[in-house]
Amino acid sequence: MQPLINRYVPKTTKEIFGQDENIKKLKNFIVNFAKEKKNSALIYGTSGVGKTCSAYAIANELGLEVIEVNASDFRNAEQINQKIGNAIKQQSLFARGKIILVDEVDGLSGREDRGGIQALLKLIEDSPYPLILTSTNPFDNKFSSLRSKSSLIEFKQLDHLSIFKILKGICEHEKIKYQDDVLKALSRRSGGDARAAINDLQALAHEKKELAEESLEELSERNKTDNIMAALNKIFKTTDLKIAISAFDNVEEELNEQLLWIDENLPKEYTNPEELAKAYEMLSKADVFNRRIKRWQHYRFLVYINALITAGIASAKKEKYKALVGYKPTGRILKLWWANQKAAKKKDIAEKIAAKTHSSKKEILKSTMPYIPIMFKNKEMRNNIINQLELEPEEVEWLKGQVK
Ligand SMILES: Nc1ncnc2c1ncn2[C@@H]1O[C@H](COP(=O)(O)OP(=O)(O)OP(=O)(O)O)[C@@H](O)[C@H]1O
Ligand SMILES: [Mg+2]
Repeated sequence: MQPLINRYVPKTTKEIFGQDENIKKLKNFIVNFAKEKKNSALIYGTSGVGKTCSAYAIANELGLEVIEVNASDFRNAEQINQKIGNAIKQQSLFARGKIILVDEVDGLSGREDRGGIQALLKLIEDSPYPLILTSTNPFDNKFSSLRSKSSLIEFKQLDHLSIFKILKGICEHEKIKYQDDVLKALSRRSGGDARAAINDLQALAHEKKELAEESLEELSERNKTDNIMAALNKIFKTTDLKIAISAFDNVEEELNEQLLWIDENLPKEYTNPEELAKAYEMLSKADVFNRRIKRWQHYRFLVYINALITAGIASAKKEKYKALVGYKPTGRILKLWWANQKAAKKKDIAEKIAAKTHSSKKEILKSTMPYIPIMFKNKEMRNNIINQLELEPEEVEWLKGQVK
């Protein structure tokens, strides 16, 4: 069965909630295009607030054809001329009116694309049709001339009542049973993103045709994972360091877990070996700082770690990878990691003793390690061992665990 999100694409502006003023502005811009000073409208706002669907719904109502182009079509002037040139030439008496939709101009990024923004600016100047651009982050410096050549329309995040109305409509149409307060909680949780809200509804209720109260608990668990996935997405998919650096701001998971998530998913995203190596260098530096914090409690290193694993990793790539990668949680590797960590502790301690006594690690593992936990029972000996070997807190914990 088709996902709800594909079945409930608004066909008319009546089905779009919470953006009445903006829809009016956009409609006016298109209808009065001949008199407008500017040839393009730049609609911007966060994800899932109705930017793309409004452009289509308005075109539909006005009987206009939508020529949709993507950021990647602007790679070079030739490519875009090929795609749009034909449409522009076909201005016959019988042809329908048109609008040109350049969805997600944010994709025009990186140095190689500079020609792309130029090509878009030229299109804005020459176009006989209204242009609608959408963007989630139009205030990037590289878009300054785009901004001055366009009328700006801000699509605000949807208030939870608008989301509630959207979900309620779907529930009724799909015959999904729900309690008002559970559906309201679901609406609040979406952060003003209707797409996310509809997808949540799909995940929690569509199969059972019921939105049960327990769903909310399921949601809060998922919320945590979602947050970290969103953080990875921010780091991996942007080259804008300002965006990357705040990636973990709303993530509750502790640092160790963040490092593991990155470690697990980085190689799937960065397929260029040089960029992958660079990114891993950042991660390993972060790991070094992390150890120093644990050993010496130098908490100010946390700032460096955060910079390394966000902006550092983001900057290891020249441009974002187009492929969509499903990021995997670390559950499995986390377990493996803990198991390895335990075995590693024993080896680490043996190594330290070997270094102090000028013997081999293998020898120490066999002849000395079995007695260390016994010596650990005696407080004075224990303190001596800890100081002499400069044991880390985890190593001390591990040894304590071995004392029978
Ligand atoms: N204001 C709204 N009213 C009703 N449904 C909406 C609204 N906004 C979004 N939706 C629902 O969410 C889907 C996605 O919306 P849309 O593609 O317009 O988002 P967008 O703002 O372009 O987001 P993005 O920046 O991620 O492209 C729509 O097909 C529709 O089902
Ligand atoms: Mg969109």
